[in-house]
Amino acid sequence: MASGIYASHEPYLEYCRHTNEKTKLHTLLRRRLPRIAAERALDAGCGNGINTAAIAHMLPQTQVTGVDESPAQLSHARTHNAAPNTNYEQGRLESHEGKDYGFILLSHVLQYASTDTSAMVRNAITRLAPGGELWVIQQGREGLAQIITHQRPLLDNPVFADWKTFEDYLPTIRREARSAGCLLKTIKIGSSIKQIDFDDPSAGDKLRLQFILGLKKPFDEQTPEFKRHLARLKLGNGRRISHPNHVAVITRPARRSPILK
Ligand SMILES: C[S@@+](CC[C@H](N)C(=O)[O-])C[C@H]1O[C@@H](n2cnc3c(N)ncnc32)[C@H](O)[C@@H]1O
Repeated sequence: MASGIYASHEPYLEYCRHTNEKTKLHTLLRRRLPRIAAERALDAGCGNGINTAAIAHMLPQTQVTGVDESPAQLSHARTHNAAPNTNYEQGRLESHEGKDYGFILLSHVLQYASTDTSAMVRNAITRLAPGGELWVIQQGREGLAQIITHQRPLLDNPVFADWKTFEDYLPTIRREARSAGCLLKTIKIGSSIKQIDFDDPSAGDKLRLQFILGLKKPFDEQTPEFKRHLARLKLGNGRRISHPNHVAVITRPARRSPILK
């Protein structure tokens, strides 16, 4: 795996517990999914399966496949997020064989994938059934993303060498959508995350920071210089840090009936 961040499932799970980005996404999906007739749906880079299970619950007639390359994430997904209409597959999206999906989710995967963004988005688009939708989700440049922006010189994880936010990915996503003859629109999700005490982080804060900053060693083993740097950060209103997510909705046109041509 490119980043190694997903070698254990706990740091990401702790992060998920304290952000409302998943529940806000699920509210949006609940409104929009029913108008997508999908026999099959794909959660590409499904991680711990939190979104896979939500989609399966919203679309009980749809078979929902979660694909992820991390064994630790998938083991959590299989144990905690299984439903009668879910199946989980360990492997990379690039070698997954499924196609003709009515709905595909690619949520927070681009920055962790070793394949370049164009190829990843193109790969997902080619798996869409006519009339199907691909949702590509990334964090926006405001709020939480600034922690990474400020700490980047001190971060040794290769995943941050080319760190991008939704605004940076959008031109590439747009180009791929256009060249495949798809429609594109964007939706902003005003999500946030529970404040982290940078001066005196709790055990949970330390796990979240380990995930957010891709730390290879536990927080307590970081250098004093690194901790001082973090303590200088003032983000949020004391309770929440703004953490907007953005969705690029890519729609593959439905096949027109020959009579309407
Ligand atoms: C931040 S997590 C996102 C999990 C989930 N989609 C969500 O939004 O909560 C990124 C996931 O992408 C997976 N991943 C990265 N590159 C991948 C690839 N090429 N194929 C499949 N999974 C990949 C990682 O293993 C990790 O579990």
